[in-house]
Amino acid sequence: MTEATIREMTSGDIPPVMEIERSSFITPWTEGMFRSQLRFRDQAINLVLVEDGNVAGYAAAWIAYDEIHLLSIAVIPAARRRGLGGEILRAVMERGKARGALRIILEVREGNASARAFYRMHGFVEIGTRRRYYSDTDEDAIIMEYLFGE
Ligand SMILES: CC(C)(COP(=O)(O)OP(=O)(O)OC[C@H]1O[C@@H](n2cnc3c(N)ncnc32)[C@H](O)[C@@H]1OP(=O)(O)O)[C@@H](O)C(=O)NCCC(=O)NCCS
Repeated sequence: MTEATIREMTSGDIPPVMEIERSSFITPWTEGMFRSQLRFRDQAINLVLVEDGNVAGYAAAWIAYDEIHLLSIAVIPAARRRGLGGEILRAVMERGKARGALRIILEVREGNASARAFYRMHGFVEIGTRRRYYSDTDEDAIIMEYLFGE
C-alpha cells in the first residue's frame, strides 16, 4: 500500500525535482529557475507529491491577480498513469480557488498528446494557439483554460 501526500516545495526538494524535470522535458528548467520560483512564495503555488518518502511529482504555478498560470507539472515516468498527476493538478486547483482565482491558464506543446488528454480529463478546454512558442523546436503551444465555477 503506497501513500502519497502533497506539500509545499522547499529548496531541499530541488535535486529530486530536477531528476523528474530532466526525465520529462526536452528543455528542462534549470536549478536556478526552481530557486527563483521558490523565492516568490506569495505569488506562486509550488507543490511536490511525496510517495513512500520520495518526491514523485511536482507542479509550479504563478498567481497573477485572479489568474493562475500553470508553468510546469510532471510525474516521474515510472509512476505515471496511477492518478498522481491528477492529485497534484487538483491540489493546484484547490489552492488557486482558495486564493480567489477565476481561471487557470497554461501552454502545452501541440505534440504533447498525453498532457493535452490529461488536462482535458480535468476540465480544461483548448482556447487558442501561440505560434512557434517553443523556441527549441519551433513548436506551437496550445493554450488551455480551466474556469472556476461559482
Ligand atoms: C502529464 C502528466 C503530469 C500526467 O501525470 P499522470 O500521473 O500520468 O496522470 P494521471 O495518472 O493522473 O492521468 C489522468 C488521466 O489523464 C489522461 N492521460 C494521462 N497520461 C496519458 C497518456 N500518456 N495518454 C493518454 N491519456 C493520458 C488519461 O485520461 C488519464 O486517466 P486514465 O489513466 O484513467 O486513462 C505526466 O504524463 C507527465 O509528467 N508528463 C511529462 C511532463 C509533461 O508533459 N507535463 C505537462 C507539460 S504542459
